[in-house]
Amino acid sequence: MRFFIDTGSVSEVEEIAGWGILSGATTNPSLLAKEDGEPGDIIRRICDLVGGPTSAEVVSDDAPAMIEEGRALAKLHEHVVVKVPFSADGLAATHALSDEGIRVNMTLVFSATQALLTAQAGATYASCFMGRLDDISIDSATVTEEIVTALRPGGTTTQVLAASIRHPEHVVTAARLGCEVATVPAKVFHQMLNHPLTESGRERFKADWQSRPEFVSWLRELVSKQPA
Ligand code: G3P
Repeated sequence: MRFFIDTGSVSEVEEIAGWGILSGATTNPSLLAKEDGEPGDIIRRICDLVGGPTSAEVVSDDAPAMIEEGRALAKLHEHVVVKVPFSADGLAATHALSDEGIRVNMTLVFSATQALLTAQAGATYASCFMGRLDDISIDSATVTEEIVTALRPGGTTTQVLAASIRHPEHVVTAARLGCEVATVPAKVFHQMLNHPLTESGRERFKADWQSRPEFVSWLRELVSKQPA
């Protein structure tokens, strides 16, 4: 499963991209509305930082306007993927944009039936919102599994993108269920790092090594001998 970062914050992308684990990014109007600066500059900067598919969302409700906005957003950068909210007009816009070779990420997908329609419309990604399902006491793992298993047999190329990730367990569930991508907020990436045994293990190794000062100087000397 590949990782995208879910944010409108360039500084968060800079930090997490530095870990070498990102394949793309997703933005949405709410995430971008939190940021200072022109949306086009932010989206282009994030595209450059992740060097991969970066979703930018249309905001109109009718297909003709969505298609116009989608064409314009796609021209911002070669990595832009147009994000389209699920609806009948969204399906029509997705079909038209995909026909023009513009990749679409259908967002706000909450059921296997919506995902099946999304795949038929030609979307590259179907974004299943796990956190928002759990928010209303609908088990996100069950719905995500239904979406993955519904799309598989049909031989569709539409990838399941797990979104609205609220904690590390959502990431594990998405991977276990076979989602191709999870888009993760920076805060959750940090939570995924943590394990008490890793911390204590690193401290123990350091302490044991430093208990042998001759070893410390040996390694420092070994490093200093390396060609620049
Ligand atoms: O970017 C889409 C989605 O991941 C937003 O999730 O529910 O945390 O706003 P949420």
